[in-house]
Amino acid sequence: MLVTLKLLADEAAKRDYAVPAFNIFGYEDIIPVIRAAEQKNAPVILAANIPAIQHMPLPYLAPLMLQAARTASVPVCVHLDHGKDRQGCVDAIANGFSSVMYDGSQLTLEENIRRTKDIADYAHRHGVSIEAEIGSVGYSDPSIAMKHQLSDPDEVEQFVRETGVDAVAVSVGTVHRMETQEASIDFNLLERIQDKVNVPLVIHGSSGVPDDQLRKLASYRVAKINIGTALRMAFGKTLREEMEQKPGAFDRISLFGRPMAAVEETALHKFTILGF
Ligand code: G3H
Ligand code: ZN
Repeated sequence: MLVTLKLLADEAAKRDYAVPAFNIFGYEDIIPVIRAAEQKNAPVILAANIPAIQHMPLPYLAPLMLQAARTASVPVCVHLDHGKDRQGCVDAIANGFSSVMYDGSQLTLEENIRRTKDIADYAHRHGVSIEAEIGSVGYSDPSIAMKHQLSDPDEVEQFVRETGVDAVAVSVGTVHRMETQEASIDFNLLERIQDKVNVPLVIHGSSGVPDDQLRKLASYRVAKINIGTALRMAFGKTLREEMEQKPGAFDRISLFGRPMAAVEETALHKFTILGF
């Protein structure tokens, strides 16, 4: 069933689990993620980022995500990941998304607050949840020019109070697109942040977090854990193996079988670590 982020995150914040938000790019990862969630009887967030939407525009991608959500036996949130501007969030909402993230993390605090509040008001008028980011989770790929800046607890408090967001993404040691689980979470900073605000917290760049720290994060007021690279690696590496093992094969339906199973297996493992 389709649900908002607020519904999932408020519950997760109180409980000893965190809901994974998996980046999806099409049918081949939406279905394995939903299968894994159903096996775990767990809620899940399908997150479409800008590259996914550039590849498969919203009029195609949104119905696919919404159909998967509506027919799933578990609660599913259909979410825009790292929305860059108001129009991107408006379009996602018009296409039926139940949640949007507006990412103003590269702006000054004042400008981030101003734009986030405007989009939060719009989303709430349409019954849609909103997540936003304060501080900035950087990228391991140096060609992506995004700053990396840990979140300041006082700024997080001001940001949440002045914008009215439903969940806040904070920077506490993760980096986007890590291919090995070597990040080191600053749990002391996380604790100082969660003492200042009541809303659920979101961790981006979680592919790089070691399993023991992921488990520990779930026991905090962290409600949403963003995982992208781990699933992309599971799909891509298994597809490469398949193509190497079957050099004459060209039928993508048969080539996609094992990569889809690898995505499901990786998602299942993340659910287990996150408390399901
Ligand atoms: O917004 C998406 C995520 O933060 C995913 O990050 O690809 O490093 O797991 P990741
Ligand atoms: Zn992210």
